[in-house]
Amino acid sequence: MNLKGKTAVITGASSGIGLGYSHALAARGANLVLVARNKSQLETIAADIKADHAVNIDVVVLDLSKVTSGQELLDALKKFKLSADVLINNAGFGTNNRVAKEDRTKIQQEILLNVVTLVDLTTAVLPEMLAKDFGVIVNIGSTASFQPVPGMAVYAATKAFVRSFTSALWGEVKGTNVRVLTVNPGATETEFFKIAEAKPAGKLAPVSDVVEATFKALDSKNSSPSIVVGGQNALMAHFTRLVPVKAVINIAGKLFLH
Ligand SMILES: NC(=O)c1ccc[n+]([C@@H]2O[C@H](COP(=O)([O-])OP(=O)(O)OC[C@H]3O[C@@H](n4cnc5c(N)ncnc54)[C@H](OP(=O)(O)O)[C@@H]3O)[C@@H](O)[C@H]2O)c1
Repeated sequence: MNLKGKTAVITGASSGIGLGYSHALAARGANLVLVARNKSQLETIAADIKADHAVNIDVVVLDLSKVTSGQELLDALKKFKLSADVLINNAGFGTNNRVAKEDRTKIQQEILLNVVTLVDLTTAVLPEMLAKDFGVIVNIGSTASFQPVPGMAVYAATKAFVRSFTSALWGEVKGTNVRVLTVNPGATETEFFKIAEAKPAGKLAPVSDVVEATFKALDSKNSSPSIVVGGQNALMAHFTRLVPVKAVINIAGKLFLH
């Protein structure tokens, strides 16, 4: 996929997987719009990337966990006279607590960020992509999307939403040159587990695994609605479909319930 000169909007670009995508997209010649809350981190990243690649980079400092966040990001793009050719809906966080013990505001922000803003941004950029007959929307799911997870009930549900929504959208854009993909990483080496106050269930994979799997899927002529990063994670995701749901919930609970 040739992305030279295209505009890529990456949410959650200040850290982890979003940071990895930002470097990889710049290496392919895409101009970047980096979005997150941490201004100084975004500015440092923009300077680092510009030192390595001749691309334009704009920074949008924005909290994406509000109902109005999607519109605020669109307003910022309009101000820059840009529209998204590539949208990476990556910003997200998880909570690891029993629902009865979790802070309600935190849960609302988790749903607003992981689901509401992701859907709003997707809905906003899609018509122009279809009109141009070119576009890429990558929505970040998780292996948590494949089963209910006691202890991470809301997080897993947000990611199940992302995967279902994005797969349905894949069915809607089929036959056009707009690519829509859910990327489902397993445990990956980022700030995620520290912020979620959770322990990873297995070994952490490098961010490069997620980025490479994404581009492999996007570069493939055979478009698929959803990929799982890592062979073992793909096997586990398949396994959840074969085992009775009660057993799957019990296993997940053993890993994340405390
Ligand atoms: N790491 C894993 O094991 C794993 C596995 C499966 C899926 N994922 C998913 O991968 C995505 C990226 O997470 P990560 O692992 O790279 O974690 P991370 O290192 O914590 O990065 C999260 C990114 O999201 C941004 N973000 C968080 N809250 C935000 C808000 N309210 N408004 C705007 N930006 C916000 C953060 O930037 P600021 O703090 O500067 O705003 C940061 O850039 C998430 O959707 C996560 O659910 C991660």
